[in-house]
Amino acid sequence: MSESGIDHYLKAAERSARWHEEYRKEMKKCRFDTIAVHGIYSMQEALDFNQGSIIEPIYMSTSQGYRDSDEMEAALSYRIPTWCYARIANPSIYYLEGVLALLEGYGADVETSCIVTSSGMSAIQTAVDPFLLPDPNQPQRPINFVATAQVYGGTFQQFAVRKEKERGIIWRKVVNYYDISEWERQIDENTRFLYGELPSNPVQTFFDLQAVINLAHKNGIPMIVDSTVATPALLRPITLGADIVVQSVSKTLGTSGFGIAGAVTSRKNLVSNVDNPEMKADFAIYAKTLPNRDNGPNISPINAILALNDIRTLRSRVDNQSRATLTVAQYLSQHRHIEQVDYLGLQSHPLHGVASSYLWLVDAEHDEQYGKPVNRYGHLLSFRVKGGAQAARAVFDTFKRIWRATDLGRIKSVATIPAISTHAQQGDESRKIADIPPNLIRLCVGAEHPDDIINDLDQALAILDGHKTTCTAPEFSAGGASSATLRR
Ligand SMILES: Cc1ncc(COP(=O)(O)O)c(C=O)c1O
Repeated sequence: MSESGIDHYLKAAERSARWHEEYRKEMKKCRFDTIAVHGIYSMQEALDFNQGSIIEPIYMSTSQGYRDSDEMEAALSYRIPTWCYARIANPSIYYLEGVLALLEGYGADVETSCIVTSSGMSAIQTAVDPFLLPDPNQPQRPINFVATAQVYGGTFQQFAVRKEKERGIIWRKVVNYYDISEWERQIDENTRFLYGELPSNPVQTFFDLQAVINLAHKNGIPMIVDSTVATPALLRPITLGADIVVQSVSKTLGTSGFGIAGAVTSRKNLVSNVDNPEMKADFAIYAKTLPNRDNGPNISPINAILALNDIRTLRSRVDNQSRATLTVAQYLSQHRHIEQVDYLGLQSHPLHGVASSYLWLVDAEHDEQYGKPVNRYGHLLSFRVKGGAQAARAVFDTFKRIWRATDLGRIKSVATIPAISTHAQQGDESRKIADIPPNLIRLCVGAEHPDDIINDLDQALAILDGHKTTCTAPEFSAGGASSATLRR
């Protein structure tokens, strides 16, 4: 091995790292839309290395070749920027990670990094597992984490089955998520993190995020937020002090629906009671170069670029779809066959006030259309049909324009009945706690004109005129932290 050979690569890497750092800083000064459009892909990189391609290239290659053994050694010991092998990294994947890190940290003087994964579920696993290792001094001591009971069904299964049942890690559920003292009561010296999904899928629970972040830090543990429904266009938890943000990129970020993807973005130097300095210093990079290298939940480069392409228009899309969703929610809330509409944008929603203090359309004050801050609430709503499960199914089966699918965040309107789909596996009792009755339909309003979605809902709900419904599926009155409880 020639030391001078390695040195040559280390020096070149230093220069390149400095250049990229400067470029990142320059991009960080741009507005949200500019970052979303350009990300970290520079004109210089295009001209010098990518034949001038103005769009980020898809590097469909499993591995990177090296000039000689010196470069290979420096690369594989992570001493120079490298991507090695597409299970670990890849240039196309970096473009997506770079833009998400900037967008999640937008508007704050905070350093962020990001790792993208094969799915939202693998992003959740990537985000939580490094905190769930046994204490080496007391391996028998049971550990726990504190998380909202109202989470996406897949998250519920990962927490309740993969962590709790299979590994004995206790999930302490926060049922009354708006009650900070309930969060506080669940924490002890064996708690590894606080976790919240907000707004939650499907019933739109929301809580005072800042207060929960403060609570986490008071106890020396990180706050992890699943912000899939809000996206960085409406909420950037890291800028409020949260440590890690999870996104199912498959959803609103990757709205075209071409592929499944996830992302974990973290602040540098996060708070944790786990003794792992490398992890705390740069969580996303640690996850990328160590646990995920070994576990392999990587994303395909083509999926990364497809998602990146959708992210370019995130802000205006979320704005338009949020406005359309509010119009649809207002229509539904007046409808004779509707029992309840859950949409945080409705003033009648019990959590409208707290949600309004957090959900702001990014850069509205710099937008000539608005010129001032404006609230937006996203494009997910849910509604409960009078007459129970059978009535809800009858309406659902009559949609002509709205797709029946277990999906959300699409450019096309999509609906599902969570009790028989996304949240089926968790069982009646858990659905009761999470307030997901069988007559609840989740609707994600797409980019169509809202009049056409309302027309579709109108003709579907008309099926209940004169329709006598018999409830064969179990009905329950909402309990726990249900919105019904809050409404009282
Ligand atoms: C809030 C939330 N988080 C995570 C996920 C999981 O994402 P994925 O389907 O990309 O694995 C979903 C999926 O619907 C979700 O709604």
